[in-house]
Amino acid sequence: MNQKGGVGKTTLALSLAARWHLAGFSVAVIDCDPQGSSVFWKKQQVENSLLRGIKVYAVTLPSEIRSCRNLDVDYVVLDTPGTDKSTVRAAIHASDGLIIPVQPSAVDVDASYASLEAGLDASKPIAYILNRYIRQSILGEDTKKALKTAPVTVIDKVMHQYQDFPRSIGSGETPTTMFPGQKSARNIEAIGQAIDQWLIKCDQKSETHSTV
Ligand SMILES: Nc1ncnc2c1ncn2[C@@H]1O[C@H](COP(=O)(O)OP(=O)(O)OP(=O)(O)O)[C@@H](O)[C@H]1O
Ligand SMILES: [Mg+2]
Repeated sequence: MNQKGGVGKTTLALSLAARWHLAGFSVAVIDCDPQGSSVFWKKQQVENSLLRGIKVYAVTLPSEIRSCRNLDVDYVVLDTPGTDKSTVRAAIHASDGLIIPVQPSAVDVDASYASLEAGLDASKPIAYILNRYIRQSILGEDTKKALKTAPVTVIDKVMHQYQDFPRSIGSGETPTTMFPGQKSARNIEAIGQAIDQWLIKCDQKSETHSTV
């Protein structure tokens, strides 16, 4: 999630969903955004796509978003809109963890704070991930430092700027399936591994809390 538009929410959501699906897990994507980018992605998929098994549901009503926890799948990935507050709030409450993609600039980090606060208010684990990161740029390093002061995890892998993201997403694929072995696919694999580790930590913490 992130109230700011165009930061990579859909791109990351679908790339993670694809990775989990290809690892053998059952995955559902909930497109909570009336804009319907994840639904569009699904419609572009060819019949023999390796990602056909991923189900995508368009669900924008808050009451229905809550019930997505009842889906009989291993992973539910919610792709949220920017500013529809009641929909985003329902998505936050339905989630085990929130991932906030952010682009490396002070203005972008500031614009993400409303989403951060909404997540903190709901006491959900939150992870930031930098998108469109330019290696060793001053902005990138400054943004990393700024985020380290926030009470959240910062995923230690960043999303780089690759045309493979729009090219593959526009065809109902992701870099993992359309550009296997390429830098973009390796990038999303590294991010996926880091996010898996974060999710395991979140699970361990929630188990500790529930047994106290
Ligand atoms: N790392 C990247 N490299 C290249 N292009 C990217 C990257 N991340 C996102 N994009 C492109 O930027 C645009 C916005 O990305 P995306 O749709 O994922 O953002 P969003 O946060 O879901 O936007 P919205 O708020 O409109 O739902 C898309 O065209 C996407 O392909
Ligand atoms: Mg989107």
